[in-house]
Amino acid sequence: MVVTAVATSPLPRVHTLPEHVAIIMDGNGRWAQSRGLSRQDGHRAGAENLRPVIERFGEHGVRVLTLFAFSTENWGRPRAEVEAILRLAGRVIDRDLHVFEDAGVRLCHIGDLEQLPKVLQKKIRMAVERTAGNDRMTVNLAFNYGGRADIVAAVRQLVAEGVTPEAVTEEAIAARLCTVGLPDPDLLIRTGGEHRISNFLVWQAAYCEYHFTTAYWPDFGVAEVDAALLEYSRRCRRFGLVPEDVGTDAV
Ligand code: FPP
Repeated sequence: MVVTAVATSPLPRVHTLPEHVAIIMDGNGRWAQSRGLSRQDGHRAGAENLRPVIERFGEHGVRVLTLFAFSTENWGRPRAEVEAILRLAGRVIDRDLHVFEDAGVRLCHIGDLEQLPKVLQKKIRMAVERTAGNDRMTVNLAFNYGGRADIVAAVRQLVAEGVTPEAVTEEAIAARLCTVGLPDPDLLIRTGGEHRISNFLVWQAAYCEYHFTTAYWPDFGVAEVDAALLEYSRRCRRFGLVPEDVGTDAV
């Protein structure tokens, strides 16, 4: 997929691609502070980085990208910062929706939409509806998302359905999570140097590979995308099995 007409650097060949990449876009604040800018400036720079990164993963052929843009815990930040992030989300949709639409990108949302300002809810719903028929790449925006809250909601749904204890299986829970219909992430990237998953896709990421980089999110460019995918292609995924069961010599 090429979203923009501008050619970027040559695409390295990646032998084993992840089908689903999830990203914790961390470090906007530190990126800004290190330049004497405000945290809001950092989020603006972070928002500018969304499109080129989505485009690069698309060029590689990654089918699903889930981006952690706002966690349920982020409401605790200063009001001005929260409002700036909410405004930015709306602006990204206003500005880039037609680009994604034309590039065959299906936009989805995971998380609690109801708590968001009505205007933003409307924009997100409209973006999801307008791109629902696209199938080249799915971009999931995790906005007001929390992994544990997602599991709690799934369990509540099971209880409300009156299922028996025997019917509470991994499949039954997965089918009630907001990621239903999507493959589990194969690769989870966190920018900004921290080594934790911060309540992101806690169920779905049970067997994914992790890639941590010290690059702040606004600096996570094409070369960083390529490096993460190349590192993934060298990993040996065993899913708790022994090497011969997963068809590899690596131990
Ligand atoms: C983490 O950096 C980033 C966020 C909490 C917000 C993510 C927002 C964007 C990537 C830009 C906006 C995009 C949309 C779709 C609204 P941080 O603030 O925790 O940085 P720090 O760890 O350096 O303080």
